[in-house]
Amino acid sequence: MSSSDPMISIRSVAKSFGPVRAVEAVSMEIAEGEFFSLLGPSGCGKTTLLRMLAGFETPTSGEIFIDDQPMSSVPPHQRPVNMVFQSYAIFPHLNVRANIAYGLRKQKLPKQQQNAMVDEMLELIKLPGYGDRRSHELSGGERQRVALARALIKRPKVLLLDEPLGALDKQLREQMQLELRALQRSVGITFVFVTHDQEEALTMSDRIAVMSKGRCLQIDTPNRLYEAPSNREVAAFIGTINFFDASIKSVNGETANVDAGVLGEVKAPVGDGTFASGMKVLLAIRPEKLSIESKKPKRSAHAVEGVLDAAAYLGERSHYYVRVDGIERPIAVSAQNAHRMLEGIDDQPRPVWLSWSSDSAVILDAK
Ligand SMILES: Nc1ncnc2c1ncn2[C@@H]1O[C@H](COP(=O)(O)OP(=O)(O)O)[C@@H](O)[C@H]1O
Ligand SMILES: [Mg+2]
Repeated sequence: MSSSDPMISIRSVAKSFGPVRAVEAVSMEIAEGEFFSLLGPSGCGKTTLLRMLAGFETPTSGEIFIDDQPMSSVPPHQRPVNMVFQSYAIFPHLNVRANIAYGLRKQKLPKQQQNAMVDEMLELIKLPGYGDRRSHELSGGERQRVALARALIKRPKVLLLDEPLGALDKQLREQMQLELRALQRSVGITFVFVTHDQEEALTMSDRIAVMSKGRCLQIDTPNRLYEAPSNREVAAFIGTINFFDASIKSVNGETANVDAGVLGEVKAPVGDGTFASGMKVLLAIRPEKLSIESKKPKRSAHAVEGVLDAAAYLGERSHYYVRVDGIERPIAVSAQNAHRMLEGIDDQPRPVWLSWSSDSAVILDAK
């Protein structure tokens, strides 16, 4: 494989179960060594796509290539992939060492070599000395690490992970996210990671495919998905965002002027869409891109007056909800308390000013 070829190439792959269209003509390419996530709500087709990569399901149409080989006639056990599930099935009657070595059982390696490989894996998952323990002597996080080691010991080209941290509590889950990411970097194996948790996907991934109803909405880096969503669904799914109805006045290359009602005439970058004068669009602004202060700002490109309706103090930052006449929903604002420009916060309604710079909004297709 040349370095520019993708490790995985999914070409117009669709899967139906009778009348249910689980995956609709999805195409994507995943690079060697990439940490790639499939992100979307429950039922959007993530597991089905992963199971087609593993060979447990056959595509209704389309073709999957792994390491330049078409997979259509390759059975699961002959694919260069391994899979880790949410319910980490490690064998209760075997100790940790035997569980990890289980992945090698068909390879008929000398005992000494097997032991050395298992020791290396125990180091990798930070459980040296745990070899003799049984499943019931391990925490949930430790069991999941053992399941990972078992999947990794044969050094598959691709590791498929279906919500592998879903059963862990929040704190352990966050710790495992960082560990799993570090482990993936150190082994350099391509990971395809399924999650419905956007924060998890943002934390861990090189790139993310955002899925909805069997379709792929956008494939991009976490930063681009957040800063430059290409459509309304992605913008709303990744983080919080304020949408304002607007219409295009003029387009000048990468930016457009829109008429945004009570917000006035606003200049903002255009997303991936093609826009023409008169089109109905959405002006989208993240809560942390809005500044909130008591007085009218002197230098901001755009500002609007409103009434502070509610505030929530969260320690490091505060969330504010501001009503503006002529806009139906309260506007969400998030400000770091260290940089707060609003003095004397209380819950009493009071006039405030919101402002933002031209490059911190994005224009999206209204549909
Ligand atoms: N074996 C199956 N038979 C029938 N329908 C299925 C089967 N597997 C999945 N589905 C349906 O396909 C859709 C996608 O499911 P799935 O891939 O499990 O989604 P996700 O993993 O994103 O939650 C759902 O509507 C689900 O009910
Ligand atoms: Mg699933």
